[in-house]
Amino acid sequence: MAAFTHAQAAICKMKQTHIYLDHGASTPVHPQVVEAMIPFWTDFYGNPSSAHAHGRDAGFALEEARRTIADLLHAQPNEIVFTGCGSESDNLAVRGVMWDARLQGRGNHLITSCIEHEAVLETAVQLRDLFDFNVTILPVDGYGRVSPDAVRAALRPDTVLVSLMAANNEIGTMQPILEIGAITRQHGALFHTDAVQAGATTRWNLAQMPIDLLSLAPHKFYGPKGVGILYVRDGVRLVSALTGGGQEDGRRSGTVNVAFAVGAAQAFQLAQAQLDERVAHYTRLRDHLIAGVLAAISADDIRLTGHPTERLPHHASFALRGLSGNDLLIHLDMAGFSASSGSACKTGNPKPSAILQAIGLGEEWTTGGLRFTVGAQNTLADVDALIAAMPRVVAQVRPFSGDR
Ligand SMILES: Cc1ncc(COP(=O)(O)O)c(C=O)c1O
Repeated sequence: MAAFTHAQAAICKMKQTHIYLDHGASTPVHPQVVEAMIPFWTDFYGNPSSAHAHGRDAGFALEEARRTIADLLHAQPNEIVFTGCGSESDNLAVRGVMWDARLQGRGNHLITSCIEHEAVLETAVQLRDLFDFNVTILPVDGYGRVSPDAVRAALRPDTVLVSLMAANNEIGTMQPILEIGAITRQHGALFHTDAVQAGATTRWNLAQMPIDLLSLAPHKFYGPKGVGILYVRDGVRLVSALTGGGQEDGRRSGTVNVAFAVGAAQAFQLAQAQLDERVAHYTRLRDHLIAGVLAAISADDIRLTGHPTERLPHHASFALRGLSGNDLLIHLDMAGFSASSGSACKTGNPKPSAILQAIGLGEEWTTGGLRFTVGAQNTLADVDALIAAMPRVVAQVRPFSGDR
């Protein structure tokens, strides 16, 4: 973790006043990633599609980045598409496959779950409401897990795709994706997983795993924002949503951001090389955080959300009875902690959490979601500081809670 101590000082100056516990939203860029990217702004700035020497240099680097990611996933380079973010990868996977199936007359039915990130769920709803696709949205249990039996029962002869996230951003629950992928494959449909949260803490062997499409977002694992990765199994066809010069094998037009692709590859390589070390560090902090926060607040007023064990190693989430997650975040911020109410996209949204509703929590709990996601540079002292602050923060927010 020594490199991150340096990164902290160099990049994350906020750390001096604030403790960052929102790595599920985004992460600092690792210094080795920054270093790897710089030459592609200063020296090798050619367009990777250009045939001249400058273009070839950029093109070689782009293909090297693609190969690095493919090797780490046990995939082939032609199965890796660079996109602009995790959301775009999800959109391309779900919309691209469904549109292609319609063109080929291969079916009209999509299965997903009610706790997907909006990048999948809103895409599914748009396909249903604007384009007349049939969409089944599966429920989850009290831990936020989708039952493999429910997937089996929902599969139909015209099912094209099952899209189920590897792990939920708000409550950290990991899904039985291998089991569900196998059921889907046995049925002859395709399986997509949104692995934006789980990408860097899971070892992938896509040559063996029953996964046809997989979305990743490097900014969740110490890479840059502005680049996403989509794995598309060889032979899986999709209609591109971004048409133009036909880059990325016609799947995503537009000049590829070589520096970010190189950064994505470097970040993923570091994440996979340091996976055991990082997971051990995160798990130690997470378990300490969960135990400490639960002990610091009256048991009537707080509960852990998501699965107690089948959860992301860096993820701790809670619901606080009768409180507003937004008020808690404001007071945590004033106390020097950067956290989240579940997903960065939802910050500022006072509505009850659809995820907390989906896991069956009553209305006294569903506005009070809180998420802490630890990272490589966090220490036990950071977590102890949070645990010490929590009772004070809850007491400050309680008077504003009304009858909630
Ligand atoms: C599970 C999940 N999917 C998709 C996304 C979207 O990724 P991006 O913000 O890179 O578009 C996020 C972002 O937090 C996420 O947590």
